[in-house]
Amino acid sequence: MNDIRPRRDEAGVKPRSLGVVFRNLRVVGLGAIASYQPTLGSILNPLNIVGKIKNVRHPPIRDILSGFEGVVRPGEMIRTFMTSCPTTSNSNVHPVVLGRPGSGCTTLLKTLANQRKEFYSVEGDVHYDSLSPQEMRANFRGDIRYCPEDDVHFPTLTVDQTLTFAAASRTPLQRLGATRRQFAHVLTQALLAVFGLRHAKNTPIGDAVIRGVSGGEKKRVSITEALASRSPIGVWDK
Ligand SMILES: Nc1ncnc2c1ncn2[C@@H]1O[C@H](COP(=O)(O)OP(=O)(O)O)[C@@H](O)[C@H]1O
Ligand SMILES: [Mg+2]
Repeated sequence: MNDIRPRRDEAGVKPRSLGVVFRNLRVVGLGAIASYQPTLGSILNPLNIVGKIKNVRHPPIRDILSGFEGVVRPGEMIRTFMTSCPTTSNSNVHPVVLGRPGSGCTTLLKTLANQRKEFYSVEGDVHYDSLSPQEMRANFRGDIRYCPEDDVHFPTLTVDQTLTFAAASRTPLQRLGATRRQFAHVLTQALLAVFGLRHAKNTPIGDAVIRGVSGGEKKRVSITEALASRSPIGVWDK
């Protein structure tokens, strides 16, 4: 790995970087509506029909986040503290997202990771350097990676297969003379070594039924898999 960096600089390959700024961020979700399994009686009940029409005209929305602002510069690693009732904090020194369950940590991270589909609406300014979220979604989707809290993998693939696939799915154009396959191989080997997974290389990931790697190793596979995609922005929901 050590000899790659000087060779990369020599070849004039610039490492890519990206930052994100956000201001007046407001995320609205659909509020909890008591929904029961429909029956023939409830479908035909006129009271329910009136309620449905009301819901369509005035959906029961609620703010999950409001008034958030912040900046993450390229190369910076931040963690954000979040209180149970979100207020704007002006601490620009050590922002850390930590909050009690349900306070909206995942919502903030998903919004910054540009995964907005599940929310009713997202208002406010978010910029990825000079790019808007729409441009990011259209052209640079792979440059922001959201790593979810739970580890979802194909249980029958081995650690090596999982990582090689992740690495091969996003190889760069300039590879210092290596083929795409070689690049993915070298990257996988380096990551396996860094995260202490070499001994588990040929072990299946496993799940509740198939015996596989340990819980800690599985978490490390998730982290390594995310890093293998080489995105400039990584969002870690842990
Ligand atoms: N798409 C959504 N629509 C409506 N409410 C949502 C949506 N996503 C999350 N919520 C609610 O917003 C609150 C914050 O959720 P979340 O960000 O997942 O919290 P956490 O801090 O535990 O990660 C929760 O009360 C959750 O039920
Ligand atoms: Mg969460």
